[in-house]
Amino acid sequence: MPSQIFTVEDARVKAKRRLPKMVFDYIDGAAGRELLASENISAFESIKLQPRALINVEGRTQTKSFLGKDWGLPFGIAPMGMCNLAWPGADEMLAKAATEYNIPLGLSTMASSTIEQTRERAGENAWFQFYVSGSKESAMKLIDRAAASGYKNLIFTVDVPHVAPRVRDMRNGFKAPLKIGPKQFVDFALHPQWSISSLLRGIPSLANVETEVDGQFKRESGRGGIDWDFLDYLRSYWPHNLIIKGVLSVEDAVRMKQAGADGIYVSNHGGRQLDSAPSSIAVLPLMRTALGTDYPIIIDSGIRDGESIIKALAYGADFVMMGRPFSYAIGADGQRGLETVIELLADQISAAMAQIGVTEMNSIDENVLFQK
Ligand SMILES: Cc1cc2nc3c(=O)[nH]c(=O)nc-3n(C[C@H](O)[C@H](O)[C@H](O)COP(=O)(O)O)c2cc1C
Repeated sequence: MPSQIFTVEDARVKAKRRLPKMVFDYIDGAAGRELLASENISAFESIKLQPRALINVEGRTQTKSFLGKDWGLPFGIAPMGMCNLAWPGADEMLAKAATEYNIPLGLSTMASSTIEQTRERAGENAWFQFYVSGSKESAMKLIDRAAASGYKNLIFTVDVPHVAPRVRDMRNGFKAPLKIGPKQFVDFALHPQWSISSLLRGIPSLANVETEVDGQFKRESGRGGIDWDFLDYLRSYWPHNLIIKGVLSVEDAVRMKQAGADGIYVSNHGGRQLDSAPSSIAVLPLMRTALGTDYPIIIDSGIRDGESIIKALAYGADFVMMGRPFSYAIGADGQRGLETVIELLADQISAAMAQIGVTEMNSIDENVLFQK
């Protein structure tokens, strides 16, 4: 039977049914009152595209050159910690899809697969996302491992100086590594398919930090000790592309560019950190103006369909990433769900390109926007 997923929201609804509440809420939830998580999505709704007529739009292509590589699609998979909670083996599914569709995969420091395994599975499509958690010395060992296994793109996430309180996680007693008390046991028992699969594959662990960061990782532990000096140090240490993720201040972005960053990744962490932060799409045009036309910019947060991807490119992004849509997809229907969601996003982009009269990604700029 086909997966019956026609939109990202379909995947979300199915995932909500299949996953334990605690797991779904970890993926779906956000900081504070979750106002920004909604705003991230609705901010795209007020942006309109300009339909055009009588342009030959046969032979449309979505290939996109970015950071020295040609990608199959203009979007990729944002780094997400503990992906394997969405379904056992999710990390492998993501790596397989990254290879199959030739899209980037951000491997989180908090992933359930190792740096080395993921590089092997996804080749150069694997990008490593780096947090300093625990001591700087042990964190730098992760960088050494990423370099030794051949990663060429490092995403340095800077918007988690402190893991924001997330109310749903607190209510559900969600902890990483997972703590299973009576409440969680009942939740798992009500979702036997997930629970049995997870028991068979082993409850997901943090494959990189557990072994490397002082043997006593806690997700909530301080990540606030890093500063501009550390960025200088990291820049001189890491010889390949350095992309800084979680930047919403133009002033910071300009300084990061001056410090030698190869790209800025505009993100509010999907609304998971500061509920009163602006949406990424609101900040994006300001970033483009301040950083110049040729400087690499990535965006994520709240992108749920192909038209929003086009809007993000029109607003000045070079590349788009998404997080939750891929976790919903896996939670809904595993590898098949993931492939369905990637393909439906690509189909939506293609359909919209035909309507706005463009045949290639590089033709998408502010001229495709409806201007009153
Ligand atoms: C379950 C989950 C885990 C995440 N873990 C990380 C992480 O470990 N590192 C990181 O830089 N961002 C992390 N993020 C943020 C994503 O990289 C991305 O910024 C966010 O999901 C984008 O918003 P979207 O989900 O609306 O697409 C996580 C997001 C989710 C939903």
